[in-house]
Amino acid sequence: MEQYMIKGGNPLVGEVEIGGAKNAALAILAAAIMTDETVLVDNLPDVNDVNVMLEAISEIGAMVQRVDRHTVKINGSTISDFNIEYDYIKKIRASYYLLGALLGKYKHAEVALPGGCNIGSRPIDQHLKGFRALGADVDIEYGKIVAESEHLRGTHLYFDVVSVGATINVMMAAAMADGVTIMENVAKEPHVVDVANFLNSMGANIRGAGTDIIRIRGVQSLHRTEYSIIPDQIEAGTFMFAAAATKGDVTVMNVIPKHLDATLSKLIDIGCEVEEFDDAVRVVAKGRLRSTQVKTLPYPGYPTDMQPQIGVALALARGTSTITESIFENRFKYLAELARMGARVKAEGNSATIEGVDILSGARVSAPDLRAGAALCIAGLAADGITIVDDIVYIQRGYERFEEKLRSLGGVIEKVTNEKEAQKFRLKVS
Ligand code: EPZ
Repeated sequence: MEQYMIKGGNPLVGEVEIGGAKNAALAILAAAIMTDETVLVDNLPDVNDVNVMLEAISEIGAMVQRVDRHTVKINGSTISDFNIEYDYIKKIRASYYLLGALLGKYKHAEVALPGGCNIGSRPIDQHLKGFRALGADVDIEYGKIVAESEHLRGTHLYFDVVSVGATINVMMAAAMADGVTIMENVAKEPHVVDVANFLNSMGANIRGAGTDIIRIRGVQSLHRTEYSIIPDQIEAGTFMFAAAATKGDVTVMNVIPKHLDATLSKLIDIGCEVEEFDDAVRVVAKGRLRSTQVKTLPYPGYPTDMQPQIGVALALARGTSTITESIFENRFKYLAELARMGARVKAEGNSATIEGVDILSGARVSAPDLRAGAALCIAGLAADGITIVDDIVYIQRGYERFEEKLRSLGGVIEKVTNEKEAQKFRLKVS
């Protein structure tokens, strides 16, 4: 079983390249099958979730050709099956984006119903509401969503909940519906805009992505395109909080600073110096961090995917902080792990109180989910002594070469697969 072993105490210093956005890539790869022509997608992050999505697309018959680690060619003309098996949904929920893509193109899709996950129940009622509003018959049969329609027609839809997934999924189906679709109370995340831009590069007619109202004029067919995924704002933010927690000086390269506004604002609140460049941001943390109050919100508010990372930084800040998690119902599991490292934390419902301590001590902890796992690595890098992080498969789902990038910044971290390698690490760092 793979683990990360971390020796804390080194400030992270240097420059780190940020990869393509996982959450944009997963939707764009699904949308790529909506044309019978060849689509080239680059700046793909080489992470497990993306590789599973490519397997799912290939499984239904699309041609998938890896050009290199970060570039893939997809051609959907050979798709012969509109059925996405539970295996893929179990591995990555986002394979449900194939619902919108297949329904839009073939007017038929069958996708296993996704279960909950570690951070919450994550219903998909808004996705189904959108497909039904477009005229699709949507039934749940034997754990599978079956969506089909003679033809999809434009509609005026108001989402009950701001949902990234539902906004993207319904946008894909509406892109090939007859007539105009207006979607309100939509998600405005950068990756929603990236998917809209991608579809428009294939000949779709989508306006307003990133604002409160998205207008889509359906088209009969989509064509070839070459497209580059936007940088991953969450990966960038993770490294920025690693700099904050270790009193380091890190510049994240190849980012869109505008996408990081809420994160940068909080880094400044807690006492970091932030310097923005065209496609890079430098974060310097010299003294003790300050406490603050954080509430996660849909974009452009503070991102829920950056909640565990600031939680770790605040565990070392001067004073008491509070975090309110307004998006997911179970995203504080990492606090119990952090308490084992000496943090003074208390979670009650969707809010947590964090009383900063001078130092965390290394311990063996377990990654409860993707972002919390990365945050516990940050805690280990800042702690005194050795930290072992179990269940790092979660982290590998969304961070490419995570330990290599941290090592390039001076972090003492290694992936070990057995006790012998663990002993070697202990000897090396002692
Ligand atoms: C996407 O999940 C991301 N995943 C998540 O990132 C991210 O945390 C989330 O958006 C919010 O930004 C991908 O893009 C693959 P939502 P998604 O639908 O689309 C409720 C990561 O770490 N809801 O915006 O599933 C839902 O329960 C992952 O990379 C409904 O009630 O999130 C939640 O409370 C974790 N009904 C809220 O909306 C629905 O039909 C926001 O969920 C859909 C959602």
